[in-house]
Amino acid sequence: MWIYYKLFALSRKSSRYKEESGMTRYRIAVLPGDGIGKEVMEAAFIPLERLGLDAEYVWGDVGWEFWKKEGEALPQRTINLLRSTDACLFGAITSKTADEALQELHPSLQGRGLKYRSPIIQLRQLFNLYVNLRPCKAFPGNPLNYREGIDLVIFRENTEGLYSGIEFHPLPSEVRKVLEFHHPAMKRFSSAKDDEIAVSLRLMTKEGCHRIVQKAFEYAERSRRGRVTLVEKANVLRETGGLMIREARKVAQAYPGITFDVANVDAMAMWLVKNPEQYEVMVAENLFGDIISDLAAQLVGGLGFSASGNIGDHYAIFEPTHGSAPKYAGLGKANPLAMINAVVMMLEWLGEQDRSKVLEKAVGEVIREGKVRTYDMGGTASTREMALAVAERIG
Ligand code: NAI
Ligand code: MG
Repeated sequence: MWIYYKLFALSRKSSRYKEESGMTRYRIAVLPGDGIGKEVMEAAFIPLERLGLDAEYVWGDVGWEFWKKEGEALPQRTINLLRSTDACLFGAITSKTADEALQELHPSLQGRGLKYRSPIIQLRQLFNLYVNLRPCKAFPGNPLNYREGIDLVIFRENTEGLYSGIEFHPLPSEVRKVLEFHHPAMKRFSSAKDDEIAVSLRLMTKEGCHRIVQKAFEYAERSRRGRVTLVEKANVLRETGGLMIREARKVAQAYPGITFDVANVDAMAMWLVKNPEQYEVMVAENLFGDIISDLAAQLVGGLGFSASGNIGDHYAIFEPTHGSAPKYAGLGKANPLAMINAVVMMLEWLGEQDRSKVLEKAVGEVIREGKVRTYDMGGTASTREMALAVAERIG
């Protein structure tokens, strides 16, 4: 079972209060975003509404459209909206290069020094959503399965590492001087001018390493999985990788019943293709986790199936892994199952285990039966037809 076991046990006092006061139990933010994000979100509501969840859904603005019109892809009102909710469903957004972003900005906003920032990365940092949870399970009978029997879960650190956002270009001369003073290896780069050097910082903290590994082990224990694999590259990235391994070993000691092993990320790319069934829970720094997550997603059907949760101690955002797929936008062809799987994860996180299982089972049945398939599965069903097929299974 790939779903997620109430790990991030959330105090649901607020929900109880809501019940007593006659309000809905949950308030959920819905950010459809751009392109197929809108289509898969609308489709996901077809089965979601059948589940009879006592929830209020509040739709909000996010994405490229708002960057162009307002100079901010994640308007402050959307952040406020999320703060008033229990969880968020996120569709997908379009993002483009810095040059394109400037060109497409409304003329009245040009020349103000506005910079495009990725909404999802901002949200992860703002809400301290430090776990990126990516289950990769082969639904039996999915024609896109690389192999049957794959069922692994990836815990990717979501707030630091190489995606800390601390980057320089050109390299400020003060920063350069400090680096030269503290590290002899800087000598090798002495012939490059400041504007010929770009630096992205792989910043990792003890706490950041500890808590992501802790969550992975808690999950392994509750879901009765016997193995946790840390994916790193500590033979080369000795300081950051070393810190991660030390923290991971400390956490592992408290779980003698779970096998803990460490693999290098490059080797992991091979092993995941060779023996994907052998892995159960994997944990990794942000960039490494991003890469192995996509690799693993492709083993079980790819972008049309893969969902992830951005999870903190008090809030979580669930999204399909895919982007806005501009070439399919408006065609009603995109596979909504990734978005629906994101809903399955959200229900689980909210503590709605029964509804989560019902929805997951419905998805599994539609896949196994194989009558309704979207284009990526070799079929001709539309986004809506797939969502309806899932909804019909709910009864
Ligand atoms: P993409 O995920 O949007 O699409 C790549 C290809 O995957 C599509 O052309 C399509 O062939 C397939 N695909 C994606 N979702 C599918 C679905 N639900 N059903 C069937 N096939 C599907 O990635 P791409 O083309 O690299 O990026 C497009 C835009 O999306 C860019 O602006 C990018 O920045 C953004 N993006 C946003 C993400 C997010 O919102 N979290 C994640 C990835 C990309
Ligand atoms: Mg990715």
